[in-house]
Amino acid sequence: MGNSGQAKAKLRSRQWFDNPDNPGMTALYLERYLNYGLTREELQSGKPIIGIAQTGSDLSPCNRHHIELAKRTRAGILAAGGVVMEFPVHPIQETGKRPTASLDRNLAYLGLVEVLYGYPLDGVVLTTGCDKTTPACIMAAATVNIPSIVLSGGPMLNGWHHGERTGSGTVVWKARELLAEGKLDYEQFIELVASSAPSVGHCNTMGTASTMNSLAEALGMSLPGCAAIPAPYRERGQIAYETGKRIVEMVWEDLKPSDIMTREAFENVIVVNSAIGGSTNAPVHINAIARHIGVELNVKDWETVGHEVPLLVNLQPAGQYLGEEYHRAGGVPAVVSELMKHGLIREKALTVNGRTIGDNCRDRAATDGDVIRSFETALMQDAGFIVLSGNLFDSAIMKTSVISDEFRDRYLTNPEDPNAFEGKAFVFDGPEQYHKLIDDESLGIDEHSVLFMRGAGPIGYPGAAEVVNMQAPAYLLKRGITSLPCIGDGRQSGTSGSPSILNASPEAAAGGGLALLKTGDRVRIDLGKRSANILISDAELAERRAALEKAGGYKYPASQTPWQEIQRGMVDQLSEGMVLKPAVKYQRVAET
Ligand code: FES
Ligand code: MG
Repeated sequence: MGNSGQAKAKLRSRQWFDNPDNPGMTALYLERYLNYGLTREELQSGKPIIGIAQTGSDLSPCNRHHIELAKRTRAGILAAGGVVMEFPVHPIQETGKRPTASLDRNLAYLGLVEVLYGYPLDGVVLTTGCDKTTPACIMAAATVNIPSIVLSGGPMLNGWHHGERTGSGTVVWKARELLAEGKLDYEQFIELVASSAPSVGHCNTMGTASTMNSLAEALGMSLPGCAAIPAPYRERGQIAYETGKRIVEMVWEDLKPSDIMTREAFENVIVVNSAIGGSTNAPVHINAIARHIGVELNVKDWETVGHEVPLLVNLQPAGQYLGEEYHRAGGVPAVVSELMKHGLIREKALTVNGRTIGDNCRDRAATDGDVIRSFETALMQDAGFIVLSGNLFDSAIMKTSVISDEFRDRYLTNPEDPNAFEGKAFVFDGPEQYHKLIDDESLGIDEHSVLFMRGAGPIGYPGAAEVVNMQAPAYLLKRGITSLPCIGDGRQSGTSGSPSILNASPEAAAGGGLALLKTGDRVRIDLGKRSANILISDAELAERRAALEKAGGYKYPASQTPWQEIQRGMVDQLSEGMVLKPAVKYQRVAET
């Protein structure tokens, strides 16, 4: 590290460890950090103190590998002349946390903000992986704005079962159908599902984890190529080392999140998300990061910037392959390289390595053209989200890249009106009611029904449940009807291939139009016009609203924990990133 860089940065850790103006506090800060063997030389000779924000633990199997990787990161930090302070982040395990892991995204965010602000850290390595760990960490880095770099943990190896790839999450949806149809017994069901998790790492499909890690890279927050390396590969340990080295340089260069996470970088993220077939959770998390760094970004931008981008990455659930092929084919740099050829990347956006995304990714052509396609061989045109609105909600998104031929053939068939369908609404208030009622044949759900899930948004079901992609009743599955249209104010798993209309905002619990819907109403969805409406008169709608207000609004279950209640009182809607509203005004807090 050259002295010129050192001249630029003033280390904030000096306020703790080397402040002759306040010997009392300095001694107090210093003495306890000496007690496990650090020396005064390390703490007082002007070395950057680098945090490793550790998201791995026994409770977080998707990220647990970071405990091992941190050793390599540590070696990199030391090699570059830094001092390491590793600390735990509140665990967020997508598959283990009840009632839903997304409840904890904002809690982990808050905790990490306090740690980054309140302790003597000059820079931080954010260890990411499982779905919400990535946005939680980057949101906190955005708020505090100290030099920060993302280290993904990497996906698991590919799952295999009887010679076929089994992808995380995606196989669960399939296995559930087979179980419901009686084609698998309980033991076979578990065995099939477990085959998709053969090693350490996060989900190997293009679910929310691979999406968010790919997008962190596209945003410029990780080293090029970082997102896709499978967790057990040697390159994973190697990039952990490089990441550790790089964060020390970033501190000297004073390269901060606000230098990297610009409007241009967010537009790159939206484009890349379409090309990778990214999760419908991406707009929620990315919009949250944008709000915390203070960049203008809204849900409509996802359609405007991203809809016309083709699907290039052939990964489940939209495609065929899994994480190992994605990495071998070139990962994010290969995707960006192809997008650059077509003028879709804002090439000047800066990244953590100090170079632009254009310089990082130019001529990084895919090495397997079936896994990462060219525009000429794209899996689908217009693969981005569309944003719908109407009297049901102000906004909801739909991932058109997962609309199956079966779905198209059943619902989008009218030649005069090829993008619209009408159906009879069947409304569920929360996932528990859905599970209780769905298979009851006497309710009359058939192939002309449209399933609605409400009470599943950030307030109604604290954190917003991944429950909008509802499976059809078993009796319909047996007749080969596997996907009914689903609409709701919750989210859906990024590993699901369901063409749901989701993230409806405002949610029923916040007075959205979904609260006025009744089972039996006719609804009309026009994908071409981007509209979704209950087919009733404005007068009838107004009457229903008056009745709802008189009854005290939409009813949802009581909170089970203190945090549920606290978050419900201050959380914004999914379209706005589901952020804690009072948190947004705190920006660049390390400078205060
Ligand atoms: Fe953790 Fe998918 S459940 S990454
Ligand atoms: Mg998920």
